[in-house]
Amino acid sequence: MLRTDRHLTDDDLAKALRRDVAEGLTANPKELPPKWFYDERGSVLFEEITRLPEYYPTRAERAILRARATDIARATGADTLVELGAGSGEKTRLLLDALSAENGLAGFVPVDVSGDFLEDAAARIAADHPGTDVHAVVADFERHLDLLPAGGRRVVAMLGSTIGNQPPERRVPFLAGLRGVLGGGESLLLGADLVKDPARLVAAYDDARGVTAEFNRNVLRVIDRELEADFDPALFEHVTLWDPEREWIEMRLRSRAAHRVRVKALDLEVDFAEGEEMRTEISAKFREEGLRTELGRAGLALTHWWTDPDGDFALLLAEPA
Ligand code: SAH
Ligand code: AVI
Repeated sequence: MLRTDRHLTDDDLAKALRRDVAEGLTANPKELPPKWFYDERGSVLFEEITRLPEYYPTRAERAILRARATDIARATGADTLVELGAGSGEKTRLLLDALSAENGLAGFVPVDVSGDFLEDAAARIAADHPGTDVHAVVADFERHLDLLPAGGRRVVAMLGSTIGNQPPERRVPFLAGLRGVLGGGESLLLGADLVKDPARLVAAYDDARGVTAEFNRNVLRVIDRELEADFDPALFEHVTLWDPEREWIEMRLRSRAAHRVRVKALDLEVDFAEGEEMRTEISAKFREEGLRTELGRAGLALTHWWTDPDGDFALLLAEPA
């Protein structure tokens, strides 16, 4: 069975985009939030990234899920999976199969801002799990956690290290929000990319084929289409750097020439200097102790920690402390 709740209408999305773009393009330095990469094209580009030789996180997380999905099903006793930022839900199938076999899978609730992409993915999963109530939710997980459907014994998952795209100061409040929606006996499953050799990290975000560069520039296409702007994506170069103090990857767009961009829907004109850089994403990399501390500050206790054989990526379980 398949149904969809849309907590984000096109109008809500347009308003949120206008606010973020108006704020981000008038800030110094300029910045855009990563949420706006993911229109239909951005979601497809992200899927392509997950198959790149340089982008190890998806393969590493899939290896952990292959080895541990049954352990996760047993440890959580969950019969319902809520997945935040579900995307295509391809890796999730390993988890759904294990929950089905161990606990009887009653419900799957994939949540994403990328509405049409989510609906297609949810329909494919519903077709493969005819006995499961698949309840897709188009929502912003930063704002709509209290609208998530209750029912069953839930494990709430955020895979792919999507938690790392939030700035550190927002992570603990976000995790505390998640803690707030978990009932007794429910748990959190988090995927986290780990600190490693900076050269491998940078390569994962600056692939030879330039797919990540296209994904990065996609945010400009979204703004052009939705806000009648005249960004020329070719005027922006993809930049990736590792910040060793803050232990995060940063993606930026660097203007190749001095030029002016008009955002008609905001009645805004923005000047870019030659070489000016605008941050479009951070992707934090984690260590076990740091995550244990952040979870603790959010009222969650880390109960299980699994990595792939190379120690590149971790999957963890946490429960209300
Ligand atoms: N979980 C998948 C996809 C990760 S990509 C994987 O591990 O491969 C990140 C996903 O989160 C995208 O599908 C994007 O559309 C979604 N997303 C990003 N910000 C979001 C937000 N604020 N609310 C809901 N979904 C969001
Ligand atoms: C979704 N998120 C965890 C990805 C990441 O690795 O930070 C997004 C991404 N950006 C560039 N490549 C992939």
